[in-house]
Amino acid sequence: MTSFQSEKMQKTTFPLFILLLYRLTVPVYAHGQPESGGLSAAEKNKLESLMHAMTLGEKIGQLSLFTQGFEMTGPAGTFNLRQLIREGKAGGVFNAVGVDSIRAIQRIAVEESRLKIPLLFGLDVIHGYRTIYPIPLAQACTWDLPLIEQIERAAASEASAAGLNWTFAPMVDLARDPRWGRVAEGSGEDTWLGCRIAEARVKGFQGSGLRLANTLMACVKHYAAYGAAQAGRDYHTVDLSPVSLYEWYLPPYRAAVDAGAGSVMSSFNEINGVPATGNRWLLTDVLRKEWGFEGFVVSDWTSVNEMMNHGVAADTAGVARLAISAGLDMDMMSGAYMGSLERLVLDHAVSVPVIDSAVRRVLEAKFRLGLFDDPYRRCDPSREKTEILSKEKRALARQSAAESCVLLKNEGNILPVPSTVRRIAVIGPLGNSGADMMGCWSGQGRAEECVTLLDGIRTRTGNGTEVTFTRGCSVKGTGRSGFDSAVAAAMAADFVVMALGESEDMSGEAASRASLGLPGLQEELAERIVQTGKPVVVVLFNGRPLVLTRLASVVPALLEAWQGGTEAGNGIADVLFGEVNPSGKLTMCFPRSEGQVPVFYNAKPTGRPMDPAHPDEKYVSRYLDEANDPLFPFGFGLSYTTFSYSEMTASVTGNRITVQVRVANTGARDGEEAVQLYVRDRIATITRPVKELRGFQKVFLKKGESERITFTLTSDDLAFYHPDLRKYCEPGEFVLFAGGSSAEGLSVEVKTE
Ligand code: NOJ
Repeated sequence: MTSFQSEKMQKTTFPLFILLLYRLTVPVYAHGQPESGGLSAAEKNKLESLMHAMTLGEKIGQLSLFTQGFEMTGPAGTFNLRQLIREGKAGGVFNAVGVDSIRAIQRIAVEESRLKIPLLFGLDVIHGYRTIYPIPLAQACTWDLPLIEQIERAAASEASAAGLNWTFAPMVDLARDPRWGRVAEGSGEDTWLGCRIAEARVKGFQGSGLRLANTLMACVKHYAAYGAAQAGRDYHTVDLSPVSLYEWYLPPYRAAVDAGAGSVMSSFNEINGVPATGNRWLLTDVLRKEWGFEGFVVSDWTSVNEMMNHGVAADTAGVARLAISAGLDMDMMSGAYMGSLERLVLDHAVSVPVIDSAVRRVLEAKFRLGLFDDPYRRCDPSREKTEILSKEKRALARQSAAESCVLLKNEGNILPVPSTVRRIAVIGPLGNSGADMMGCWSGQGRAEECVTLLDGIRTRTGNGTEVTFTRGCSVKGTGRSGFDSAVAAAMAADFVVMALGESEDMSGEAASRASLGLPGLQEELAERIVQTGKPVVVVLFNGRPLVLTRLASVVPALLEAWQGGTEAGNGIADVLFGEVNPSGKLTMCFPRSEGQVPVFYNAKPTGRPMDPAHPDEKYVSRYLDEANDPLFPFGFGLSYTTFSYSEMTASVTGNRITVQVRVANTGARDGEEAVQLYVRDRIATITRPVKELRGFQKVFLKKGESERITFTLTSDDLAFYHPDLRKYCEPGEFVLFAGGSSAEGLSVEVKTE
């Protein structure tokens, strides 16, 4: 018997009821809790004496989180923050920024409140603080984990230099539906890749220990399955089988927890009838008992109160009781804990130990962050001066803006822009817009500090090249009055770069779209410009996969630049002019039409799969009026060079499968390729996807060079969740695929015993 079998055999011979009992009673502690995880004996004593000294009101205060100023996005009451802090009625504040402001607020807590407990200071540092990096979905398209970790390290360093100690990130919600505007904040449609990125982000934020002044405590969100909102409509219902939850949606949260994330945010949505914020199974049974999470859980904005709208309790007291009993430690903005918990305890509807456990977790986080040693640890004005928007951070932003570009089409090698070009027309509503380079959740980023596409092209080409800019139309409007001048600008140029897409407010929270085409008249403008006969490349700025079927059939070149942040224009110019050879690959499919959604690469085969050789066969799983496959698949992205795959082999030794493949750079330029490895389990007791990503390596190859790449898989990589929610692999035949996207490449078969 090989190890591919052993795990299953062991587990299946173990009586199920003992297993269940074991799962309910024995917490399995996660690996890799952060170095900062432990409290010293003195800290433990201090924590206990605080617990002893606190009134019930002060305890509840630690469980309440309030914003400073800022737009209210949900039903929150009004409050006097200064007074709340002075009375010990706030555990943390978010949306306050800057050393002076944070120091002043912290001073109220540690000097004017009775027990002098320091505050947490949180912010949505989603893709940067003041230096804005590409949106997370774009970063994922780099397939460069060290780069992603480095970005979060830099973001944490900058944000902590502005006094912050907590970020509401990483967002690790798996998303298969591009109608959902929040796909911009995540890593795309793949669970395995999502796990690797979640780990990288947590490591980046939390650095080598939360006591260090240049770190932020991570908050994994939105727990759980927020990305599975029905019909892609934000905040909508989630209804998933337990196996789907375990197999696809939960692993990235778990990966972030295992990487040591200090906090978790519950999501707005219900799951299978129970809102996540009051879901004891999610917050306690899975998160704490199964995964061993020891940090604290915060609600999303007013999501405690929103349980009244969900219809699971009639009043504030009812939702507060549901949330605290489920394991929700901190109430963001509802004021439900503040208003109701004391009464609930006095009425014996909530027990003191339940409150105490939540308070302990919040206080432990503050100890871990070193706030009891020095509440002003991250309030160093000299760091604030040197770190904010530093040269190094801008350079990293530029590199990541370039690396996240995905070249979708390049007919006749129209790109890179030939060096002979002397007159360039930049045309389109996004050609000179700083704000739209940043995308959603742009922290303290400033539009005027962003390099637009026009700026980037002008800087790169210098004086010898004339670069004009014409808007042509607005992003969403229906006016054609700018078309003629755009056509004239194209006619006067040797080369046209169009800047089309979505404005920054069209993705992110509360930004679902039912139509996924280019908004307004942009596509029509593109067609008019192409008709001039000039060489045209369209650079796309958007926060989600779009339906580009018509556009891609009309324009010769398409570069997906997403929303690249502060240095977007420079990074894109590096790609357009060939300084950087594009190597980005999509992490979400681009559908051909909205009717295909959700379309994702790792779908199940069905009992009547469509045979591509007979696309017109009737009684198979297909559309009458649309292809099954997406326009651009997961893992796809072109380069200015070409890569070929050969000599694929696989062998099984004990618990390991070794896969090798030769990748050659067959084109005329040096370049990087994300070599992807997929697996298919041919026969299993429950159906398996047609393909699942299980590895990748990003390799740099000089022109003419080739390399033999080796991947090693273990039984864990072949394992999957069974109806009893245990994960193990079933020995048998597996197909392994290696290639430059999920839709092409080589394959070999292996048999495990
Ligand atoms: C609501 C969003 O859903 C969440 O992602 C964010 O962290 C909070 N608001 C705080 O801004």
